[in-house]
Amino acid sequence: MKFFIDTANLNHIKEANDLGILDGVTTNPSLMAKEGITGQQNILDHYVAICNIVDGPVSAEVISTDFEGMVREGEHLASLHKNIVVKIPMILEGIKAIKYFSAKGIKTNCTLIFSSGQALLAAKAGATYISPFLGRLDDVSTNGLDLIAQIRLIYDNYAFNTQILAASVRHPMHIINCAELGSDVMTGPLSAIRALANHPLTDLGLQQFLADHAKGNG
Ligand code: E4P
Repeated sequence: MKFFIDTANLNHIKEANDLGILDGVTTNPSLMAKEGITGQQNILDHYVAICNIVDGPVSAEVISTDFEGMVREGEHLASLHKNIVVKIPMILEGIKAIKYFSAKGIKTNCTLIFSSGQALLAAKAGATYISPFLGRLDDVSTNGLDLIAQIRLIYDNYAFNTQILAASVRHPMHIINCAELGSDVMTGPLSAIRALANHPLTDLGLQQFLADHAKGNG
């Protein structure tokens, strides 16, 4: 399973990238705003800065909600760097835009997926990735992982190439469960990635090894 980090924070992106396990980055307008990145040129420059850190797909989201606007914005975003993936919302105009980009060989990430029907439509349009939002489904008492399993089944039935990019991942168990269900990619915050490394028995064991070594070696 590929690991993407879901942030626009350059320090977090650098830290995850330095671990050597990072495959890509996802952003959205809320994450950009959280980092105080505002104004069209600053936003575009920030995408390029991210692409200069990570050698992998970087999702950059369009703001337009009509086909022509999405095409205009998406083509500009894609021209910024070879690793940019145009992130498009799951609306009917978005499906048309995904089909357009797919025919032109421009990679897309269909975002805000909350049902398997939406995932099927996006795959039919030729989306490179679809982003089902696990955490936001959990937030409304619906099991987000069930959606990953349903989409996996549908995509495997018809050998769709569209990759399942589990999004809105909040904690390490989400990551592990996504891997068990065969998600192609997960995107989550640095905290969830870091937490995968933690185990108290590892800490205790290491403490003991170092103490025993010190006893014998001064
Ligand atoms: C997906 O690409 C989104 O950026 C993201 O995963 C949303 O996560 P949230 O529900 O934690 O805001």
